[in-house]
Amino acid sequence: MGTRHDDDPALYFSTHVFVCGNRRPEGHPRGCCASKGSEKIRDYMKVRVKELGIEGVRVNQAGCLDRCELGPCAVLYPEGVWYKLDSFEAVDEVLEKHIQAGGRVKERMLP
Ligand code: FES
Repeated sequence: MGTRHDDDPALYFSTHVFVCGNRRPEGHPRGCCASKGSEKIRDYMKVRVKELGIEGVRVNQAGCLDRCELGPCAVLYPEGVWYKLDSFEAVDEVLEKHIQAGGRVKERMLP
């Protein structure tokens, strides 16, 4: 599934981050990431990527990523690693340890 092929062009973004920005009505059984602050998280991440001068990384708002109960969630490609980004600290940690250093932030990863 989803493996890269020799004929594929080079990656356009070295990491493409999708942050769920879905909002559901109050009381919806699945809840939503927007009600848990994902819009502010996404905006903060975009600002920090710029401030830190990180190149080749794109942060986009996504619709529902279907892991609502675990959110606010984000997924990074091409790694296919999911994180719960529930604070600015979580964003800073993922930017620093995953994106800049190429490591992982295991305690914030979704299973
Ligand atoms: S509302 Fe964010 S994953 Fe569904």
